[in-house]
Amino acid sequence: MRKPIAQLRTSRLLLDRVSSDDLDDFVCFYADPLVTATLGGVREPTWVTSYLHRQVEHWERHGFGFWTVRDPAIRQFIGRGGLRHATIAGRTEIEVGYGLMSEFWGRGLATELALESVRVAFEVLDFRQVVSFTLPSNVASRRVMEKAGFEYDCDVVHADLPHVLFRQTRIH
Ligand SMILES: CC(C)(COP(=O)(O)OP(=O)(O)OC[C@H]1O[C@@H](n2cnc3c(N)ncnc32)[C@H](O)[C@@H]1OP(=O)(O)O)[C@@H](O)C(=O)NCCC(=O)NCCS
Repeated sequence: MRKPIAQLRTSRLLLDRVSSDDLDDFVCFYADPLVTATLGGVREPTWVTSYLHRQVEHWERHGFGFWTVRDPAIRQFIGRGGLRHATIAGRTEIEVGYGLMSEFWGRGLATELALESVRVAFEVLDFRQVVSFTLPSNVASRRVMEKAGFEYDCDVVHADLPHVLFRQTRIH
């Protein structure tokens, strides 16, 4: 039987399966122009409601998905990320995604989240490969991918924009 992954702890993060109760935090996340500059721009609450619903459905359908990321001690909202199915360059892949509120940037937290996502993908869910992708100009995200063990694969177009695709294959 699979180990439970709906709630996990890393050394500095509490990861909880996304829930409709997280709506206020997600609305705040997607209202921030700095955070969303690399995510398609600021989004209205109606868009966020539908986005969150899709993430909740992903968990129901597949048994994994994005987590809401909080401070383990005080439960302050930090961001969101994790694993999900994605179609990119015509292929269905397992994506590692991450995004944090800007006050938490620069402390290695996205790398901690990405590393835990990769661990769950390989050790718990038994996937053989994971990908991550971003705008070519998103240097911080590219660096997170490298630190989490990804290597550059190819240039792709995603959401009508050029992206760089990084890939990581399980060793054993
Ligand atoms: C991208 C993002 C997740 C990074 O989060 P983070 O917690 O700051 O990431 P980490 O601290 O783990 O690592 C960031 C790395 O990028 C480096 N970096 C950040 N900005 C950089 C820049 N402008 N130029 C070069 N390197 C940069 C940091 O120095 C660090 O590398 P280091 O540890 O070798 O010094 C965060 O900026 C974010 O949430 N952005 C908005 C959403 C987003 O773009 N998500 C990814 C979409 S694919």
